[in-house]
Amino acid sequence: MKVGIQVPATMANLGCGFDCLGLALPIYNTVIVEETVLPGSGIEINIIDEKNPDNALNIPTDKNNIVYKAIELLYSYIGQVPDELKITIKTQIPVARGLGSSASVIVGGLMAANALLRNPADEAVLLSIATEIEGHPDNITPAIKGGVTLSSWEDDGSVVYRKLPWYDDWKVMVCIPDYELATEISRSVLPKEVLLKDAAFNLRRSAMFVEALHTHDSELLKLAMRDRLHQPYRKKLVPGLVAIMDNLRHTNGVLGCFLSGAGPAIGVVSCGANVNEIKDIVANTWRDMNVNTQFYSMPLDNEGAKRIL
Ligand code: HSE
Repeated sequence: MKVGIQVPATMANLGCGFDCLGLALPIYNTVIVEETVLPGSGIEINIIDEKNPDNALNIPTDKNNIVYKAIELLYSYIGQVPDELKITIKTQIPVARGLGSSASVIVGGLMAANALLRNPADEAVLLSIATEIEGHPDNITPAIKGGVTLSSWEDDGSVVYRKLPWYDDWKVMVCIPDYELATEISRSVLPKEVLLKDAAFNLRRSAMFVEALHTHDSELLKLAMRDRLHQPYRKKLVPGLVAIMDNLRHTNGVLGCFLSGAGPAIGVVSCGANVNEIKDIVANTWRDMNVNTQFYSMPLDNEGAKRIL
């Protein structure tokens, strides 16, 4: 038996919602898990990146692979150990750009293995295992559910989430620079403690964000997508971030601009804006720093992970 799960890319934080807000995009990784044909052949992991075969070279294909680790946790949940599996990971989501490539393959591997095992784990267990591997739920939840999600990893290991509404006139543009930034490095520059006034700043913005989404309030969204908890510390890792944000803030129709997850990709939310004007600001700023930009302007993925095989 063979199961294939397609999982969307995700953008986390969305400015104010560090480690809790995220959204899904229609760029997909696929994870296929099957029982090995020859008994005794152990665990086989293949990674296929058709566009950039070199990307696959840096990803472990042994038991250190995060997909394998996630599947191992699922098996241990039912008191078993995976010993005979072929795992194929087909990637389209750029790696180490802040677009949830690791969350997507963790979710894909878990859901595929769960289906292979005849679904011993329900959604709550899958969310919890995936978040344990990833370390935060903000990419995992939209990867599973699609759309925009608010999620919280609770002290007991469970994940509480809600899907939030989104509107077709709010466009999301993804700006991807041509260099990688590892999440561990981007998290390592964050302080252990923050000032109360900065925490209060983000608290207000997160409340505004949720209200703006529930009421389709573009003016409120414009105030909401700002941050003082992570972007100020990460800006040194993403040259041009501050200039791009400052310029876009004054561009007609732009509602928000944020570092996508741990970066370095940048997300821009707009309503009635001239898309080329946004692209020019981002591309020109980064070009001055010898960085090329790839743009995707797309609706959200609202379905989340789904079985395709
Ligand atoms: N919320 C996480 C962070 C997302 O900002 O580090 C990274 O995957």
